[in-house]
Amino acid sequence: MDFLTLFAIYVVVVVTCIVLVCKYSGQQQTPFSILLNSVGKVIAPITPKWLQNLSQRTLHRLFHQRNNMFIYLHILLEVAVYAEFTYEVFGFCREMDTTLISLSVPYILLLIKSVFFYLCIKRDPGTVTKKKVAGQIHVYPYDRKLFHPGTTCPTCQLLKPARSKHCRVCNRCVQRFDHHCVWVNNCIGAQNTRYFLLYLFSVCAMAGDIAVLTADMLLHAVLRSGLMMASYIDEYGDKQLAGLMFVVQHLFLTFPRVVFMLGFLVFVFFLLAGYALFHFYLAVVNQTSNEWYKSRGYVCQHCHPGTGTADDPRHPAPDHSKRYYYSRGVLRNIREIFLPPQPGHKKDK
Ligand SMILES: *[C@@H]1O[C@H](CO)[C@@H](O)[C@H](O)[C@H]1NC(C)=O
Ligand SMILES: [Zn+2]
Ligand SMILES: [Zn+2]
Repeated sequence: MDFLTLFAIYVVVVVTCIVLVCKYSGQQQTPFSILLNSVGKVIAPITPKWLQNLSQRTLHRLFHQRNNMFIYLHILLEVAVYAEFTYEVFGFCREMDTTLISLSVPYILLLIKSVFFYLCIKRDPGTVTKKKVAGQIHVYPYDRKLFHPGTTCPTCQLLKPARSKHCRVCNRCVQRFDHHCVWVNNCIGAQNTRYFLLYLFSVCAMAGDIAVLTADMLLHAVLRSGLMMASYIDEYGDKQLAGLMFVVQHLFLTFPRVVFMLGFLVFVFFLLAGYALFHFYLAVVNQTSNEWYKSRGYVCQHCHPGTGTADDPRHPAPDHSKRYYYSRGVLRNIREIFLPPQPGHKKDK
């Protein structure tokens, strides 16, 4: 395969990843979903009906019904990266005297990550049930801004505790609802936000660590090949240094899969690091993603998105100046994530 073909495949895969990630992040109004919708409208007249129906049904099943597709995809990507790491990078690193300890760190991180991943999937996020709702109501006071007392969920027919939200994918109300995550096929709520945070950080660590080891390997490969010092004679007969493009091309051709993996890992790392930091920030200021969106006026609990305005006395626009006024200090906020107040017991004051 020549360099250009390889590079084209590479770009296509990276772009596909970005597309997938933007789609899954699930917030209804990402610029990307708006773009996708308009693209869909443009190509709709030229696609056959059965294909439209099929893709609509597939999308619906993927994003609006509970399914394990993304868990499988997650495991598949992980197996691919670890197989490649073990098969090509590990041996090369051993040859250049990287210690066994630093080479085993990715496997340890994988183990740790799998535990949190499993807990995110299996843990009940804090479903509001008929039996528990009386206790769950008392966990958080209603702020009368984002959450109003006496609201009933039209689907579950249960009183809505403050900070809860009905998850349309799982068809249940969840306490301290954050968001529904398709990658773990579960809601993130009061009882599993801590696992979700730890999971995010461990995936970042995993991607970052393998990326560093791989980059180190490629660097050694370049140094060993002597390409940095190499030169060639150009068409005018002058001596030219090989240069960076030459080195990149050489690496692409000698270790196509390793370079490919490194690109993927760097992409995943920055994306997830941003996402993890956002969730860490939310934890520190005692907010859920749901509240963050609401307090920015993206979603109004009573109306359809974007209809809550200052002119409407029933649904005043959210007060932006007091966005974090629930926070009782960073440490207490973090503690609440890791030791969530249990329904039934009154919260310690
Ligand atoms: C977090 O915010 C809620 C209201 O949204 C409040 O009831 C609770 O006491 C706050 N917790 C901390 C630790 O500040
Ligand atoms: Zn509900
Ligand atoms: Zn859900």
